[in-house]
Amino acid sequence: MLPELEQLHAQIRACTRCGLHASRTHAVPGSGPAPADVMIVGEAPGFTEDVQGLPFVGPAGRLLDTLLRQVGLSRETVFITNVLKCRPPQNRDPMPHEAEACLPYLRLQFKLVQPKAVLILGRHSLERMLPGVGPISRVHGQVFHRGGVAFVPCYHPAAALHNATLLDELQRDFDRAREYLDRLLAPQEPEPPTSSPARPEPPPDAEQLSLI
Ligand code: URA
Repeated sequence: MLPELEQLHAQIRACTRCGLHASRTHAVPGSGPAPADVMIVGEAPGFTEDVQGLPFVGPAGRLLDTLLRQVGLSRETVFITNVLKCRPPQNRDPMPHEAEACLPYLRLQFKLVQPKAVLILGRHSLERMLPGVGPISRVHGQVFHRGGVAFVPCYHPAAALHNATLLDELQRDFDRAREYLDRLLAPQEPEPPTSSPARPEPPPDAEQLSLI
C-alpha cells in the first residue's frame, strides 16, 4: 500500500472526530490497492466489519464479491471503503455531523487512489457524494462525470440480499459500470494530427467535487 495511504489509515484507526469512536471495536479505513481504476464506496461498517476492521466482509460483502466476480473484477484489484469509517450503533443511519466529520478522509483516499470510476453503493453514500442528482431508485446505473471521473450510483448490496428485484437491478448496475470501464480502458485509435494542440483536461480535483 502507498505509504501516504498507510499513514492516513493509521490516522483513521485512531480518529476521535465524532462520537462513533466510543462504540467502535475497530475503525474500518478501507482496503485495496492505490492507485486503482475502480473505487467502491459503501455507507458504513456493519457488525462484522467493526469486528474485523475490514470493509464489506459480512453478508453484503459476500454479495459484493460475487457481483465483482460476475463482471470480471476482484476485491484485490479495487479499492473499497465507506463514507463513515466507524460503525453506527445497531447499524442506524449515519447522522449528518458524522458524515461531515468523516468526509475529509474519503477526499484524501480519493486523491491517493485516483480512480477512473467510482461505484457509489446505497442512498446515503449517494446523498453525500452526488447531492441533488435524484433518488437512487431513479439514477442507479447511470454514469455521472465529475472532474474526469465517472461516478455510478448502485443499489446497496445489503438491500439486495433479500429482494430478488433489487438484486437484478444491482447486477445490471454493475454490468453498466463494466461496460463503461471497457470503453474507457479500450486501446484508443491514434488521433489524426491537428494543427493546434488539444488542451489537456485538467486533473480531477477532489476539492472542487461536491461529492467528496
Ligand atoms: N455495508 C456497508 O455499507 N459497508 C460495509 O463495509 C459493510 C456493509
